[in-house]
Amino acid sequence: MDLKEIEKSAIIEINNAHDIIELESIRVKYLGRHGDLTEILKSLKDFDLKERKKIGPKANDLRQELEKLLQNRKNDLVHRADFPAIDITAPGKKKEIGHLHPISKVQEQIEEIFSSMGFSVAEGPEIETEFYNFDALNIPANHPARDMWDTLWLKSQDSTPTPNKKLLLRTHTSPVQIHYMETHQPPIRIIAPGRAFRYEASDASHEVQFYQLEGLMVDKNISFANFKSVTSAFLKRIFNKNVKIRFRLDYFPFVEPGAEIAVSCPRCSGRGCSLCKQSGWLEIAGAGMVHPEVFKAVGYNPRDVRGFAFGFGLDRIAMVKYNIPDIRLFNSGDLRFIKQF
Ligand code: DAH
Repeated sequence: MDLKEIEKSAIIEINNAHDIIELESIRVKYLGRHGDLTEILKSLKDFDLKERKKIGPKANDLRQELEKLLQNRKNDLVHRADFPAIDITAPGKKKEIGHLHPISKVQEQIEEIFSSMGFSVAEGPEIETEFYNFDALNIPANHPARDMWDTLWLKSQDSTPTPNKKLLLRTHTSPVQIHYMETHQPPIRIIAPGRAFRYEASDASHEVQFYQLEGLMVDKNISFANFKSVTSAFLKRIFNKNVKIRFRLDYFPFVEPGAEIAVSCPRCSGRGCSLCKQSGWLEIAGAGMVHPEVFKAVGYNPRDVRGFAFGFGLDRIAMVKYNIPDIRLFNSGDLRFIKQF
């Protein structure tokens, strides 16, 4: 190749180079140790003086020109938007991976504790009939006890539905007890975590939808002592073994006797703070011995079986465990909140 040919092909190749690696091989081809232009420059000494004076400056000019072109093209390629310079000293990009919602975390921990005590996990529908949500739980129509649950009733396609077939969003997880007992025979040991709904104004401790965790144990001879020991064992494991547990009499139509379970406030250890409204205690469950009327509703003979049931507020447990001041944060979709877990 003579100088003209080298100039022509080198310029085309440099302009068409796609990346720095290709550019480097072009440089080597023409200006490397055995490059075409280098060879000409090396051979100058063999020419006679006249030739040398003619070709020498041209060859040197061409070398400078090509070096300049290569450098310019390199700058272009490096700064092109789709080929940004790689700064190998920059810190790596952290991959964002998701994690469980605090409610799901608490639910998993509770399921683990109860399954270690021989309980299995049951489920039921969120849309219920009046029968499962109320009647079968010994809360007949027109009974004032129905006022304990502000209910979201659903419009039925059927213009005059049979009274206890009216649809609603379940106000608690207790109907799962009925579904399960209808389809199983004792001995029964289940928990049923899930969503419940109430027609209520929301504030820091109330939401239209929230989570509960129902429990049911039925066998021939289950006593109140069994009830206290199972629930206490659970609470000591989910909070800590020093937590104090209080059982007080309460009324729920589907249990007799009925109880309210409270734990000593973990934030102030029972001394009194804003979380426990200065009382030192946090109420976290309703519970009691299953009412004979409930056994009758599912076709059991109340003389043959006994059992206990409980309903924990799952949000409430998560709030106490993680010191969360407002139930509305759970569904707020605020990443600043959720990323803390
Ligand atoms: N279902 C009740 C409520 O939402 C809580 C409850 C009370 C559940 C007593 C029970 C129970 O299983 O035995 O208010």
